[in-house]
Amino acid sequence: MEKERLVRIFDKQAARYGTNREPSNLRKWRRELLSQAEGEVLELAVGAGANFPYYPSSVKITAADFSEEMLAKAKKKASNFNMKVEFICTDIEEMEFEPHSFDTIVSTLSFCCYENPSEMLGKIQRWCRPGGKILLLEHGLSTNVFVSGAQRVLNPLLYKMIGCHQTRDILRLVNDSGLTVHRAESHWMSMIHQVWASPRT
Ligand SMILES: C[S@@+](CC[C@H](N)C(=O)[O-])C[C@H]1O[C@@H](n2cnc3c(N)ncnc32)[C@H](O)[C@@H]1O
Repeated sequence: MEKERLVRIFDKQAARYGTNREPSNLRKWRRELLSQAEGEVLELAVGAGANFPYYPSSVKITAADFSEEMLAKAKKKASNFNMKVEFICTDIEEMEFEPHSFDTIVSTLSFCCYENPSEMLGKIQRWCRPGGKILLLEHGLSTNVFVSGAQRVLNPLLYKMIGCHQTRDILRLVNDSGLTVHRAESHWMSMIHQVWASPRT
């Protein structure tokens, strides 16, 4: 799908993302992951700032997203939590940072959107300092045969409607990228994955 169209799809969803209504499990998984962030943090595809309540107060966050509407919600949320965040409106797949620019790189529910998720995993490994933290909370293809069947059938429609692929094999992408995985937990019939990792050594 063209990027402009994808941006419009996410612009339209910003109000929904900004309401903070999400299952309590998801909030718990965000908290578990984000409490481990430290130092200079890059948050990819920040959306409406759903992760902001869970960061330690010591971190310095750079947050990127290509949807102005999402960023407007995220800015409001950052000010509600009295957080200083540097926001960048950009297509993160086209962006470059100097190698080793960040201590922690965070992505929650964004690897469903990228055109080339493997390339993004390569980029974040370059942008993260050696021994730094890569914290992921991502959704993808279930290991349950009935659920994955439904995901495959619905994928074309849902991608058109909400801009998210439902059929990505997140753990395979992570393993193929060579990331050093310290801990990984899967939930909801393996549709959701939490990953605590570092760049490959
Ligand atoms: C499913 S939402 C998740 C938002 C947020 N990370 C969260 O956990 O609630 C996906 C977000 O990714 C953003 N996005 C998707 N592709 C992107 C890209 N290539 N560059 C920047 N932002 C992107 C969308 O605008 C949207 O805000």
